[in-house]
Amino acid sequence: MRTTRLPYVTFHEEPAEAEVVSHRLMLRGGYVKKVAGGLYDFLPLGARSLRKVEAIVREEMERAGAFEVLMPALQPSELWQATERWEKYGKELFRIQDRHERSFALGPTHEEVVTDLARGLLRSYRQLPVTLFQIQTKFRDEMRPRFGLMRGREFVMKDAYSFARSSEEGSACYRVMQEAYFRVFSRLGLTVRMVEADTGMIGGSSSHEFMVLAPSGEDTVVYCPSCSWASNVELAGAATHCPICQTPVERTTAIEVGHVFDLGARYSEPMGAAFLDPDGRETLYHMGCYGIGVSRLLAAAIEQSHDESGIIWPLAMAPWTVCVLPLGGKDSGLTAKGERIAAIIEERFPGDVLVDDREARPGVKFADADLCGFPLQIILGEKNLRDDRVEIKVRKSGERHVVPVPGLQEWIGDFLGRPGSMVDTLILDR
Ligand SMILES: Nc1ncnc2c1ncn2[C@@H]1O[C@H](COP(=O)(O)OP(=O)(O)OP(=O)(O)O)[C@@H](O)[C@H]1O
Ligand SMILES: [Mg+2]
Ligand SMILES: [Zn+2]
Repeated sequence: MRTTRLPYVTFHEEPAEAEVVSHRLMLRGGYVKKVAGGLYDFLPLGARSLRKVEAIVREEMERAGAFEVLMPALQPSELWQATERWEKYGKELFRIQDRHERSFALGPTHEEVVTDLARGLLRSYRQLPVTLFQIQTKFRDEMRPRFGLMRGREFVMKDAYSFARSSEEGSACYRVMQEAYFRVFSRLGLTVRMVEADTGMIGGSSSHEFMVLAPSGEDTVVYCPSCSWASNVELAGAATHCPICQTPVERTTAIEVGHVFDLGARYSEPMGAAFLDPDGRETLYHMGCYGIGVSRLLAAAIEQSHDESGIIWPLAMAPWTVCVLPLGGKDSGLTAKGERIAAIIEERFPGDVLVDDREARPGVKFADADLCGFPLQIILGEKNLRDDRVEIKVRKSGERHVVPVPGLQEWIGDFLGRPGSMVDTLILDR
């Protein structure tokens, strides 16, 4: 892809309305544009990063044995009445009426809809356990939509639901999802803490949240510096010592990026959602539900990884992994050379290279590439090219390497294959 074909529009002044760094950098880098409070356009760069995150989430859900479905965002009020959440959910639920004055909710979550789906579909114990997931836009009339993608009124969530025959089987589904979550966050290059949490409006018996530790987080977690124990502050109360190893605990702010709940029969019971056991008896499903804030993850990643020049994307989340920067105008021949080099890299990493072919000063190209956070910048100057070499700048470390053009594919492959980075994150066009 070339920047001259793309609406590649960056801003170098600070946006007044943005309070946190991820929001500022996403506006400045041209990732998102505000439409109204809590509502954003994803511009081409933002949409690509979002799709990369979705692809990883999808792969890991499928690896964990879950099946993708797609349910309507518009949900009839009758389903919400059956679980009493039509009354209890409160003002966060967007409620609308159709032309016949029938009431609907714009789905903030899908427990009712999926339970209704399951009770018609999963009739026999032989079909269970099953986990279904979707990646979909959710709606919540948040009291304070803010911080850009962090707390929107419309946002992208991955939500999964498990249906099991017993509480033991339900717990096994829950553990499989917890493991899948760790794989998702590690592939995305994020450091997360899993914390014990409150079950809140969703209900059920146990729950864990996945937290990205960051100064701008709206949650507080209490954690143990010497073991993996951590808890949501509501649940930890005034605890001063780790219940596992007695070390004094510490507190920090964090961003919730995922949440898993063991629901038991919280939904299957009021909705009469049951299967036939081997003796032909109607038995309620033991359910679990599992959310990941897909769009919030983009913001959380930037909160965790940026510097004064801009975003430092984890490899898996950058809209393009490689940005080629020819430092000369059309007449210099550097742009044409840049396109040839991009084509060479694309042979091995299809669709993952952007060429900045604008007629712009080198300083402008460098600043934009740093702001947008492309992990590898391939810099083409007259002098190096005369010797058939390019300079590669690694965004994260700032290190620079001079690499002969014939060895470029291999160098990039080695770089992406280093421990801690993953070639399998380049999955967009596979
Ligand atoms: N308004 C929002 N904007 C963006 N992402 C959100 C929003 N609300 C929730 N999420 C994401 O969806 C995931 C699953 O939703 P869940 O109902 O568990 O959230 P929640 O507990 O209401 O989150 P929060 O406490 O931040 O409001 C959350 O872990 C979070 O990552
Ligand atoms: Mg909430
Ligand atoms: Zn401990």
